[in-house]
Amino acid sequence: MQKMKRLTAEIIEAAAEKLFGEGLLSADEIFGMLEYPPDSTMGDIALPCFKLSRVLRKAPPVIATALAGEISSPLFAEVTALGGYLNLKVNRAAFVKRVTDDVKAGGDSYGSPMVGVGKTVVLDYSSPNVAKPFHIGHLGTTVIGHSLKLLHEFAGYKCVGINYLGDWGTQFGKLICAYKLWGRKEEIERGGIDELVKLYVRINNEIKAEEDASLIGKPEGTKPTSPLADKSRAEFRLLEDGNEENLAIWRWFVSVSLAEYEKTYKLLGISFDSYKGESFYTDKMPAQVEKLRNMGLLEIDDGASIVSLDKWNMPPCLILKRDGTTLYPTRDIAAAVYRKGEYNFDKAIYVTSAGQSLHFAQWFKVVELMGYEWFDELVHVPYGTVSINGSKLATRTGNVILLRDLIDEAIKRVYEITKEKHPDDDECRTISEKVGVGAVIFYYLSNNRIRDINFIMEDALSFDGNTGPYAQYTYARACSVLVRAGDFGIADYEGYECNEVEFELAKALSVFPERVNAALDEYEPSVITRYILELCAAFNRFYHECKILTAEDERVKKIRLSLCDAVKQVLGTALHLICIDSPEKI
Ligand code: ARG
Repeated sequence: MQKMKRLTAEIIEAAAEKLFGEGLLSADEIFGMLEYPPDSTMGDIALPCFKLSRVLRKAPPVIATALAGEISSPLFAEVTALGGYLNLKVNRAAFVKRVTDDVKAGGDSYGSPMVGVGKTVVLDYSSPNVAKPFHIGHLGTTVIGHSLKLLHEFAGYKCVGINYLGDWGTQFGKLICAYKLWGRKEEIERGGIDELVKLYVRINNEIKAEEDASLIGKPEGTKPTSPLADKSRAEFRLLEDGNEENLAIWRWFVSVSLAEYEKTYKLLGISFDSYKGESFYTDKMPAQVEKLRNMGLLEIDDGASIVSLDKWNMPPCLILKRDGTTLYPTRDIAAAVYRKGEYNFDKAIYVTSAGQSLHFAQWFKVVELMGYEWFDELVHVPYGTVSINGSKLATRTGNVILLRDLIDEAIKRVYEITKEKHPDDDECRTISEKVGVGAVIFYYLSNNRIRDINFIMEDALSFDGNTGPYAQYTYARACSVLVRAGDFGIADYEGYECNEVEFELAKALSVFPERVNAALDEYEPSVITRYILELCAAFNRFYHECKILTAEDERVKKIRLSLCDAVKQVLGTALHLICIDSPEKI
């Protein structure tokens, strides 16, 4: 439709020039004024002429009437003036033909704005904290991040997906301490990350118990103490100082965790270009701290080194703790500098929960103050929280639902629902996997990312709601029509009178490029999810109301098949952009 709008703007520009003289209005200006009337009986595109009356020094109805009299193009079936509006009704058959031709010519690139050619984007997403559970809270960063990667790739950008593993920090002191006290090698080898999480939960509980005990009988305001916490800090210090034993345990914990994450990524069809985690930047931080100090940006506050951000109404950014150890923002600054050098990105995107928005705003500002001129290429993309059936998650207390368990559950349920229909069990398992994973992702990406989500499995899996299974089923339906049709050759539109259902379907196909642009501009994969539902609705209506394989004559049949073909192409691309597979059979 964007293209139609563009052509319309050019035609109006030419007419206006003839009527009112040269150089008064550009096609771009007119393009910006064009609207889609809410009621299509008024036309498909409208120009509100009151926006022109100042430039042209004429009353809007006069302008509208003059333009309506001047414009004659095969693109339009009717051009009328109503009040101050110029209403244009698109020639249906010409439009449907143009859209199906465009989709065919574009193929897998149909809808791509190609704005990223020659540019690089790095995307930092998923990035779980090693040895802590990979739970459904990570669904957001993982699928929003990956979808943004796919969208940017689609737009021609060179993309680098980075999993910035949380593989460093005081939690490793705790874990190493817990392992040395209570851990068993064979158990971790057998149980993997689950055993690490158990150790982590246990030491946190015991530290808490020691701290509580230390406060008994003490005056209010006393700082709690815990020998286990001291021990954990000592273990972390050893690790930071390069102690071989601790390093070996740490490396092992990282690899055990990674093996587990990779199973989930594989199910989701996700892979990363880099796994450089937080630990990688340890030796890259001192140079940045030095630079901050030399620039006079560091202040000492209660022993810690900070960058004051008062002027920007933000709390200070913490660079070094009292004991000289570095912090999360310091690491992010060092990582950004490294990535700029390594990839020379045009944009660096970070996808995390909205809870980290302040952290990003702070260190982005520090990067700016440090004089890095690429500070404005850093983009934080936040998202809301996830709960399941209304209950919130808490990592420490054990009310944790692992992402893998959620996906496995979805796959299992799809398998139960579909197994009767499938004589071939292997095929059924493969399809269940695609539909189960698709259901979870689609449900998650249905709302604006910033909204909090309550995950309800039944709703996600419903075949007749606005769900992933419904979208995949619609795709398979289009495929099945095309398989039954075989090679149908080229459709001939000459003199064909399209009906409104066909026209509405073509319109839905034609807005895809606009939606891709909006999704990219807003960093919002849900724009694509909602578009998929719009396209599915238009196609299903067409499927039920227009005979395709049994159409009244060969010509109509071919025209309708060409629409099916275009739906298959666009729906397949759109599903791909939100990380969903599109099996041809369900
Ligand atoms: N590991 C962090 C967490 O789970 C997310 C990291 C986000 N990326 C970044 N560059 N800070 O909360």
